[in-house]
Amino acid sequence: MAAHGDGFSEVSMEDLMGQVENRQISTIVFIIAMQKEAQPLINRLRLVKDVNSPFPKEVTWVLFNGMYKDLNISIVCPGKDSTLGVDSVGTVPASLVTYASIQAMKPDLIINAGTAGGFKAKGASIADVYIVSSAAFHDRRIPVPGLDLYGVGMRKAFPTPNLIKELNLKVGRLSTGDSMDMPPHDKDSITANDATVKDMEGAAVVYVADIFKVPTILLKGVTDIVDGNRPTSEEFLENLAAVTAKLDESVTKVIDFINGKCLSDL
Ligand code: ADE
Repeated sequence: MAAHGDGFSEVSMEDLMGQVENRQISTIVFIIAMQKEAQPLINRLRLVKDVNSPFPKEVTWVLFNGMYKDLNISIVCPGKDSTLGVDSVGTVPASLVTYASIQAMKPDLIINAGTAGGFKAKGASIADVYIVSSAAFHDRRIPVPGLDLYGVGMRKAFPTPNLIKELNLKVGRLSTGDSMDMPPHDKDSITANDATVKDMEGAAVVYVADIFKVPTILLKGVTDIVDGNRPTSEEFLENLAAVTAKLDESVTKVIDFINGKCLSDL
C-alpha cells in the first residue's frame, strides 16, 4: 500500500470499518431512560455506581459500570429531573447522555434498552421483547420538501442476523416521540413508519450514535398495547416491573451472545 508524504499509509474507510468489525467487542454502553428499567440489570451484572463519573457536575446522569465476562459494561441513565424528581425520559436527555457517553467511554457498541408500547395489529403482546430493525420519529412533522424526511429521521439499527436467529427474537420497527399518548397526527405518522413498537428515546439515541458511527442495537419490552382497550399509563404502570424483569432476561442473553464476538459475528 502506497504511503502518503505525511507518513500515514493509505487505508480506506472500508478497510478501517472492516478492522473495527473484526475486533472483539470489549466496551458496551447501555442507555436506559428509567432507573427502574435499569435496576435488574445493574443487580444481575453487579455493576457499581461510578461516584467519579466523567460527566459534568451539573448533570443528574447516573453511570454504573463493571466487567461482565470479557465485557466492560456501562449503564447510563439520565437520572431524576432536578425540579420534579422524576426520571428524565424523552429524546432530549437521551440525546445528551448518548453524546456524552460516546465521548467519555468510546463504546464499541451502544444498546438502548427499555420499555415500549406495542401494536397488537403488528403482532405485539405484553412482555414481548423486540429487537429493533429501524427507528424513526413520529412527532417531527415538517411539511417542507426535504425537511419532511429529516423530521421522520428513519435510521437502521446495527444488523444482527445471527443474534436474532440464535435467541429467536421478535424483530420490529420502532417509532419514537416525546409523548406517551397517541393523538391522531402521531398515529398517522406511526402507521407511515410501519412501527410495531413505540417509545420515547430510541430514534434519538440512534441519531446521535449514527453521527459518531457507533453501532447501536435497541431492545424494547412491551408494557402496554397502544391499539388495545386499556388506558396506556394504567397498563404501563401495572406491567412495568414484570416487563422490566423479562427485558433483563433478554438483555442478559444478548450480552452472553455478544461476549467474545466481533461486530461482524452479530
Ligand atoms: N413506553 C412504554 N409504553 C410507551 C408508550 N405507549 N409510548 C411511548 N413510550 C412508552
